[in-house]
Amino acid sequence: MSVIKFENIAACVFDAYGTLFDFNSAAEKYSSELEGKADSLNEIWRTKQLQYTWLHSLMGDYTDFWTLTGNALDFALDSLELNDRSLKEKLMAAYYELEPYPEVISTLREIKDNGIKTAILSNGEPRMLRAAVDSAGLTDLIDETLSVDSVGIYKPHPNVYQYAVDVLSCPPEVISFQSSNSWDAVGAANFGFKVVWCNRFNQPKERLPSKPDIEIKDLSKLLSIIK
Ligand code: LAC
Repeated sequence: MSVIKFENIAACVFDAYGTLFDFNSAAEKYSSELEGKADSLNEIWRTKQLQYTWLHSLMGDYTDFWTLTGNALDFALDSLELNDRSLKEKLMAAYYELEPYPEVISTLREIKDNGIKTAILSNGEPRMLRAAVDSAGLTDLIDETLSVDSVGIYKPHPNVYQYAVDVLSCPPEVISFQSSNSWDAVGAANFGFKVVWCNRFNQPKERLPSKPDIEIKDLSKLLSIIK
């Protein structure tokens, strides 16, 4: 990863969960009811949720992300023997209104002030994305909120990234794509976007074809990369 700056960026496209919205904040809100298992719940819930996106895609059975998120939560609660069924409702409600990461609002404002278009491209189903954007205070900072629901398959299928190109009406090489999910960053690079991997969780790099161009720890210095 020797690139330190992109040229001619017209649009900045963000992954949602884990990149803009802190998916751990749902379980943190109810940690006192989770018998000390909040971290394990987060880990299993997220892993299962992503596995289900890939499995449904491979099976040719697109089912929306809200449903998969609920199914993954059922699996996680069962795995940890958390048997209070009211937890599911509370955790799903909290997932609807996740906290943004601390630097997200200021970064998006800087990008927009510099005349660069902003968009979300997410697995999230449209209503849950709209709720997350509104509750995090991002409504005026995101120009387009794009869901895989319009494509009928999950990331990292190339049709998903193509959908952003079509809606934004600009070629992949002038789009800077940001994701904290390393596999999503790889998928977007493989498609042809300029890619910033926001490695919030200090993960090792993937052994997959294609690589993100730039790695950062959070989004606070993003403008200096794309402008
Ligand atoms: C998304 C998931 C991958 O927002 O975080 O698309």
